Amino acid sequence: SQNIYILGIESSCDDTAAAVIHNGKILSNVIASQKIHEDYGGVVPELASRAHQQNIVPVVDQALKKAGITKSQLHAVAFTRGPGLMGSLLVGTSFAKSLAYGLDLPLIDVNHMQAHILAHFIEEDGYNKPPFPFLAMTISGGHTQIVKVNDYFNMTVIGETIDDAVGEAYDKSGKILGLGYPAGPEIDKRARLGNPKAFKFTKPKVADLNFSFSGLKTAILYFIQRETKANPNFITENLNDICASIQYTIIGILMDKLKLASKQTGIKHIAIGGGVSANSGIREALKNGEQKFGWTTYVPKFEFTTDNAAMIAIVGYLKYLKGEYAPFDVTATARLKI
Ligand code: KG4
Ligand code: ZN
Repeated sequence: SQNIYILGIESSCDDTAAAVIHNGKILSNVIASQKIHEDYGGVVPELASRAHQQNIVPVVDQALKKAGITKSQLHAVAFTRGPGLMGSLLVGTSFAKSLAYGLDLPLIDVNHMQAHILAHFIEEDGYNKPPFPFLAMTISGGHTQIVKVNDYFNMTVIGETIDDAVGEAYDKSGKILGLGYPAGPEIDKRARLGNPKAFKFTKPKVADLNFSFSGLKTAILYFIQRETKANPNFITENLNDICASIQYTIIGILMDKLKLASKQTGIKHIAIGGGVSANSGIREALKNGEQKFGWTTYVPKFEFTTDNAAMIAIVGYLKYLKGEYAPFDVTATARLKI
């Protein structure tokens, strides 16, 4: 039988990551998260590329060590071609090219958004992979999409955000509330302690399966400004209820579109990915969907849902099996489509 080792490299945003996959099983999954952006309340592209430059060799080195293999055992090098921040993508792309060139290995380009979805095909004991066709909702700080997945490399985006990503809605709300960055995890934690119906935020009216989150952010901003004018301690006195109400609204928006997508396509296998899929409320809402709508839902291990290189490695493996390699003049593409 085959014995294929592939290195995956991810550098599309603010995480420098490398992973080794062996026949579909992850042997190592290393991430250097860039703390530097916390001080700025968001990712600063220029700082991100510099940090990638510093991190990439040590991260790849560690991934190989943890996998217990050497460079010479690799069969291919897979990397994120896009979408993402150009300066960040360039670091991973150039590094992957040089490594593959130096080792005389095939180079495999990976679409980051496809990778978030194909992360569901990483071999994991006890994890059931979704059958085709299924719906995948990718929710993170950089993306919000509903994708109809017909096959590994045959997918159609059937809905997406027309402005902010859902993670941005969390992070920007958190900023208004004076919480640290990224605020998603803390809002989630506080939401569990608060009353989701304490305050009402209207859901945006967006056509079809598309999303919009920028109006919600503005509504929250005006609401907080108004309330703190009347009571300067409004935020501290009501923080858990505010967080619960924001979370309730966001989950309502996501679930409305997911339900509609399932109804329109007739597909009841629903997968999620991206950093926001760690959210306890969305996980609960999905689980409820199993009883309520007869869904089967798929939520991978957390380390495979946030930005990571294991998902790049699995796509590398799937493409390797098909002999789909990239030419060496391939370029990073910031706005790569699925
Ligand atoms: O996938 P990810 O690590 O990076 C990209 O943005 O691609 O996602 C990060 C996003 C941030 O916006 C963060 O606030 C959000 O995921 N997030 C959460 C939770 N954990 C992370 N949002 C809501 N609830 C959570 N538990
Ligand atoms: Zn991502």
